[in-house]
Amino acid sequence: MKFFIDTANLAQIKEAHDLGILDGVTTNPSLMAKEGIRGEEAINQHYKTICELVDGDISAEVLTTDFNTIVEEGKKLAAIHPNIVVKVPMIKEGVRAIKWFTDNGIRTNCTLIFSAGQAILAAKAGAAFVSPFIGRIDDSGWDGMILIEQIANIFEVQGYKTEILAASIRSPNHIIRAAELGAHVITSPLESILALLKHPLTDIGLAKFLEDSKKMSLVVEDIKQ
Ligand code: E4P
Repeated sequence: MKFFIDTANLAQIKEAHDLGILDGVTTNPSLMAKEGIRGEEAINQHYKTICELVDGDISAEVLTTDFNTIVEEGKKLAAIHPNIVVKVPMIKEGVRAIKWFTDNGIRTNCTLIFSAGQAILAAKAGAAFVSPFIGRIDDSGWDGMILIEQIANIFEVQGYKTEILAASIRSPNHIIRAAELGAHVITSPLESILALLKHPLTDIGLAKFLEDSKKMSLVVEDIKQ
């Protein structure tokens, strides 16, 4: 399973990248606005900087909702860097645009997926990724993981090449469950990725090993020399 980070914050992207496990980055208009990125030039420059930091798939979202402008916007985004994946919302015009991008060699990530039917349409249009929003589904009183499982089953039965990108991750457990259920990718805030590192027994075990290592100071000295 690939790991993407879900942020436009350069320091967090760098921290995840330095861990050596990062395969890509997803952004959205809310995450870009949070970083104070405004205007076409600044937006394009920000995506370029992210592409230079991380050699992987970088999702850049269109800000328009009709076919012609989505296509124009997506072409410009795709021209920024070969690793850009154009992120398109799950709407009728978006599905048409995904098909156009597919036919013209531009990879897409279909965002705001909340049902298996939406995932099927995006896959049929040739999206490289579908992004079911797990956390937001949980917030609405359903279980986002049931959707991941359902889409994974359908894509396997149908042989769709589209990758399932579990999005709107809120906890380390979301990442573990997504891996169990067959998501190809997760996109997560840095906090949940780092939380995977943690276990109290690891901390207790390490403290004991470090304490006992003092009893073998001769060996430690040997290693120093
Ligand atoms: C997906 O690509 C979105 O950027 C993201 O995961 C949305 O998550 P949220 O529900 O935390 O805003």
